[in-house]
Amino acid sequence: MEPVRTGIIGVGIMGTSHLRMLKAQPEHFTVTALCDTNPERFKIPEAEGIPHFEDYRELLDSGLCELVAVATPHPCHSRIARAALAKGLHVLCEKPLADTVAKADALVAAAKRSGKVFATNFGMRTYPLNKLIKSLIDEGRLGKILRADFVCTNWMRSQGYYDMQSWRGSWKGEGGGVLMNQAPHNLDLLYWWFGEMESVRGHLTTRFHKIETEDEVEAVFITKNGHFPVRFYANTGEAPGIDRMEIVGEKGTLIREEGKLIFRELKKTVPELLGGPDAFPKSETEDVDVPIPEQSAAPVVAGEKTKSGGYNSAKAGAPFIWENVASAVREGTPLYVPGVQGWAAVEFANAITLSHFTNSTVKFPVDRKAYDALLRELKQGKKGLI
Ligand SMILES: NC(=O)c1ccc[n+]([C@@H]2O[C@H](COP(=O)([O-])OP(=O)(O)OC[C@H]3O[C@@H](n4cnc5c(N)ncnc54)[C@H](O)[C@@H]3O)[C@@H](O)[C@H]2O)c1
Repeated sequence: MEPVRTGIIGVGIMGTSHLRMLKAQPEHFTVTALCDTNPERFKIPEAEGIPHFEDYRELLDSGLCELVAVATPHPCHSRIARAALAKGLHVLCEKPLADTVAKADALVAAAKRSGKVFATNFGMRTYPLNKLIKSLIDEGRLGKILRADFVCTNWMRSQGYYDMQSWRGSWKGEGGGVLMNQAPHNLDLLYWWFGEMESVRGHLTTRFHKIETEDEVEAVFITKNGHFPVRFYANTGEAPGIDRMEIVGEKGTLIREEGKLIFRELKKTVPELLGGPDAFPKSETEDVDVPIPEQSAAPVVAGEKTKSGGYNSAKAGAPFIWENVASAVREGTPLYVPGVQGWAAVEFANAITLSHFTNSTVKFPVDRKAYDALLRELKQGKKGLI
């Protein structure tokens, strides 16, 4: 396979990580151009010898790249990614696709029109446990889902993290706090597992840091399919932090915590217990050992379909995502994390913020104009959390 000629726009923490990852896969990629508005970023040893630009439009016009990774702060993702697609380039756009769902819509529409490979970087979809949860739900092993509970507090960030760059933790710079930066990964899993939402009621707090955006969020979604509640809590201020998920269905309960998955299968289903003769029914369960696929560095064909139709899970995270993108570009392999699905995490985040500031339950689809108007007021300091 001819290595894909790739450019990176935004060579900060994530862009540098992409640069290292791509250089470690010379059979799939060659990094042909870099772009950053801050020329200091080109001084890192990994950037030596790579042509660089301070304006992304010059990189896009250079003819040096077939694919670009967009790793700038989120408010300019949509504009840069759309410009790249319009030039006929393939794109991997960092999460979140945008700070507002209206901008995410515009990007998704442009990507669909372009016919180019358009990926995003929700690495958590590739983790074996998360894939397993998806297949147990899709196979109906839990039965009809009754509720889900998601606590995502393993995102500890220090005050120094927010002070590092002025865009962090500001409405203007990132359009939100934990909801825009860390929790998009968790919100994407909610979409991947449960699909679209019907409504949400949310509450934001700035509690642990000196920032203007939220560092704590709690919300209750009602799903569109099944109308069950999904409680969601995230923050960037506790230690050691918890990444815990409970999904309760009529046939059993799934609990994921600390890299373990417990599947408690009911011998009698919830409707059987509810409708049975016993006033205080005892729920007999059996803990089912669900084999968890090993995550290893074994070489695999990226995005390769297994005999059962699933994806090879021997690699996870960024190496998997990037290899999958390379084979999507060269061989037309389907994307494991299609960028066109990235709107959901943005819309879920915007909906929670809108709910907080309107003190009301927000219905989906979110009113784009209402959210844009709110964000404008937040950026202008006319509204705020503190
Ligand atoms: N997928 C993941 O797990 C993951 C992890 C970390 C960050 N990210 C995402 O990556 C993006 C960047 O985050 P980061 O932590 O690397 O930020 P960062 O501030 O370290 O890097 C951003 C870089 O973009 C540059 N930049 C800003 N505007 C630009 C423009 N118009 N053109 C070119 N360069 C520009 C900045 O100078 C900076 O060097 C964010 O959207 C973040 O959400 C994703």
